[in-house]
Amino acid sequence: MSGIHNIVILTGAGVSAESGLGTFRGPGGLWEGHRVEDICTPEALARNRDLVLDFYDQRRAALATVKPNAAHEALARLDCEWPGELLIVTQNVDDLHERAGATRLLHMHGELMSSLCEACGARAGYGGSMLDGTLCGSCGAADTLRPDIVFFGEMPYEMDRIDRALSRADLFLSIGTSGAVYPAAGFVRSARHFGAQTLELNLDPSEGSFFFHESRMGAASELVPEWVGELLAARD
Ligand code: APR
Repeated sequence: MSGIHNIVILTGAGVSAESGLGTFRGPGGLWEGHRVEDICTPEALARNRDLVLDFYDQRRAALATVKPNAAHEALARLDCEWPGELLIVTQNVDDLHERAGATRLLHMHGELMSSLCEACGARAGYGGSMLDGTLCGSCGAADTLRPDIVFFGEMPYEMDRIDRALSRADLFLSIGTSGAVYPAAGFVRSARHFGAQTLELNLDPSEGSFFFHESRMGAASELVPEWVGELLAARD
């Protein structure tokens, strides 16, 4: 663990699974009864706007019924206590990292609790139903708010910031992701290219396990607090 100063942590749906939020590629491959590709695309939004808005309304509402688990809390503790650079890059659109207290955090696939105006591009905090026809708070347009979710085929957020952090990382940690979706699935190779140590914590082997120096299999709520404890102890 010595020589670690700058850390990048990638999280996926597996870090929120024990909070009760479904993963995308679990048994059956259907996500809340839908094929991900049928609900999470600009074409789906254009083809059946109300279905997509309602789907995300339901997921947004469900956030009120779940809470951060020990993995989110351990990462928030690390964020608070780690003296070097640290960036949590989450693929998740839930707000559990924030609610656990993480601050050095970005959502590369957007956020349920945010709206995006298709007329002016404004992003804003949002907690209600988009089927209500809320006006955009920036441009006043009606019926132009969509979920601020990066759909398949759209560019993830803050890729420049992520690439800079990966180029400076001494350690890249991946938690609870299947390694099925790019560009996130390629981060481990970028980090290795720049000389970082790489560690995967996951319930099952991921599609990218081969690229990690070390993989630990198990539940995030157990592996993450254990790893954070090791890291902070080694620093002292
Ligand atoms: N602890 C640790 N890992 C877990 C747990 C757990 N309790 N439960 C599940 N996992 C692991 C699974 O083994 C799987 O490898 O989490 C991973 C979840 O994989 P996916 O369902 O594919 O989710 P994710 O990798 O986040 O998907 C990436 O795909 O659909 C898009 O934009 C969406 O951000 C998402 C992206």
